Amino acid sequence: MKVLSIVGARPQFIKAFPLSAALRGDHEEVLVHTGQHYDTGLSEVFFEELAIPEPDHHLGVGSDTHGRQTGRMMIELEALCERESPDAVLVYGDTNSTLAGAIVAAKGDPLLCHVEAGLRSYNRAMPEEINRVLTDHVSDVLCVPTERARSNLASEGIAEGVSVTGDVMYDAIRWARERAADTAEILAELGVSEGEYVLATVHRAGNTDDRGRLEAILRTLSGLSKPVVLPAHPRTVARIEDFGIEDATAGIRLIEPVGYLDFVRLLDGADRVATDSGGVQKEAFFLDTPCVTLREETEWVETVEAGWNSLVGTDPEAIRAALIGDRDRPPKPSLYGDGTAAEAIVAALAEAVGGSGTETGAESGAGSEIEPESGTAGEER
Ligand code: UD1
Ligand code: UDP
Repeated sequence: MKVLSIVGARPQFIKAFPLSAALRGDHEEVLVHTGQHYDTGLSEVFFEELAIPEPDHHLGVGSDTHGRQTGRMMIELEALCERESPDAVLVYGDTNSTLAGAIVAAKGDPLLCHVEAGLRSYNRAMPEEINRVLTDHVSDVLCVPTERARSNLASEGIAEGVSVTGDVMYDAIRWARERAADTAEILAELGVSEGEYVLATVHRAGNTDDRGRLEAILRTLSGLSKPVVLPAHPRTVARIEDFGIEDATAGIRLIEPVGYLDFVRLLDGADRVATDSGGVQKEAFFLDTPCVTLREETEWVETVEAGWNSLVGTDPEAIRAALIGDRDRPPKPSLYGDGTAAEAIVAALAEAVGGSGTETGAESGAGSEIEPESGTAGEER
């Protein structure tokens, strides 16, 4: 089968890494980068480090309002779908690139496959919630990471086409954890010691674009006695400048975004992580690092129920208490599959496309060991 995969933002490159490997075992993949993220540290670094194949098409859409950005992507993707005539379009997660791909595919001929379907924060003020709900409701193949995601869909009347595949980010981190421990020098570069610092990420619009919330988070992190390392998203850096609150970061090691292996190493070695990221909450769980989530709700509720994730919002006392209190956590349940989600997704998709006559990655074992080839990616995009 011929699959057009659409990526555009940082978390999608990481999700595409195991899936591209599994897909290319027996099928044809046309990889499209919308250009939603374009800084080297938010895009190219992942293609190089993970040897993700160079995109076949780069749309160069860039940053803009939601409507203009999504609209521009749709115009380009519609033309591309007509030219490439894929059997299926594959979209990941909940970004504007996801929604643009979903609308175009749903109105065209290809089947639409949503990876990481069924997640819900039930907070419609988040643009990502709108993107994921709309995408799910027009998808033909819905690959959900957990049983809970399946039941979220069922409660919205979506049962057909749903497969519980496990989580593709678990596939990725199983590969990355060991390599990061062997190769990443980031702890030494930053002068921090294993288990003795807090890692933080803040980029969610609801936090960065609200001065009170952003300032509360930064001042609280700044006041901790442990070192705090914060690889900052450009949106966050811009808002700190716009609000003139640079002094709120005085006690924080504010650094540029780091590559995936450095990030995994930092997360693995941290005493705890404070974050408003979706993916980082799960990765913290995978790496046994207690997570403090700077939001009022989460899509990844099972990490909270398991006792590994505390939802604290932006209340300074709650953040501080969660970051300095007892670190012991209950035994971890297995929540996100066995690290073979990519193969399961390829199998579900191949079945839906109607059996192309080729052996799927799951049957052949292709992609079960992710091994980037050196020198195959990272040239001009
Ligand atoms: C997007 C996703 C979010 C995801 C995040 C991953 C949507 C609605 N949101 O949010 O779900 O968690 O990506 O990181 O799609 N910018 C740069 N350089 C870049 C990219 C962006 O400077 O390479 C700046 C621009 O000023 C831009 C802002 O960051 O306006 C926000 O970028 P955008 O892609 O619109 O949203 P994210 O906050 O990154
Ligand atoms: N990440 C990274 N470098 C960083 C921050 C995050 O490689 O400086 C990775 C992280 O490991 C995770 C993904 O980016 O896999 C999460 O992306 P982000 O938080 O931007 O998006 P979200 O998951 O919230 O959509």
